[in-house]
Amino acid sequence: MVYQAKTFPLSNLEGISDQTLEMHFKLYEGYVKETNNLTEKLSAFLADGKVDQEEMPAYSELNRRLGFEYNGMVLHEYYFGNMTRGGGGDADGRSAFRAAAERSYGSYDIWKVDFVGVGKMRGVGWAICFQDPNTGSLSNHWVSLHEVGNVAGFHPVLVMDVWEHAFLLDYKPSERAKYIDAFFANVDWTAVDRRMDSDERAATDAGRRAQGGR
Ligand SMILES: [Fe+2]
Repeated sequence: MVYQAKTFPLSNLEGISDQTLEMHFKLYEGYVKETNNLTEKLSAFLADGKVDQEEMPAYSELNRRLGFEYNGMVLHEYYFGNMTRGGGGDADGRSAFRAAAERSYGSYDIWKVDFVGVGKMRGVGWAICFQDPNTGSLSNHWVSLHEVGNVAGFHPVLVMDVWEHAFLLDYKPSERAKYIDAFFANVDWTAVDRRMDSDERAATDAGRRAQGGR
């Protein structure tokens, strides 16, 4: 499998400069390239149908890097994909996301306090709101680097990059809170809702119809 870097129509965002976005797209393309490079190198080991004992150290190191490069690629796609010019505000009161956040955290505001809190954690990584496909519930998680802390099988629905490269051209390292405000000013809540489990969306839509709304 050879991955192609995606393009994202992002510019003129609130509080996140085009300069930052351009640099960030280049970094993302690096992850796509390295994912492809690693896959190609690993397939060369497998070409003779076995992994020899003397190949094992190099083969192991390349495999250990796979999680970093793959998640670096995929998480950036989720991150760019959940921002848009003219986005922001809070999740729509009638959205599947809002309903799930209220059910999971007691209130949308508490969900947001937790997500922002995770985003402010010291260290290099990501704040991610996942949906459990088995229960439909939401939970926020800190992911170190790109690969430590992802929950197997859970679906990312809102993804925020809090590596310093995401904001260092616009804010000081100590101003992560300002960057988090800027991130929320650009969230594409429609895209977030599209990521929600389709049963959840159907239930919310049915509820709206029953209330005579849409
Ligand atoms: Fe990043």
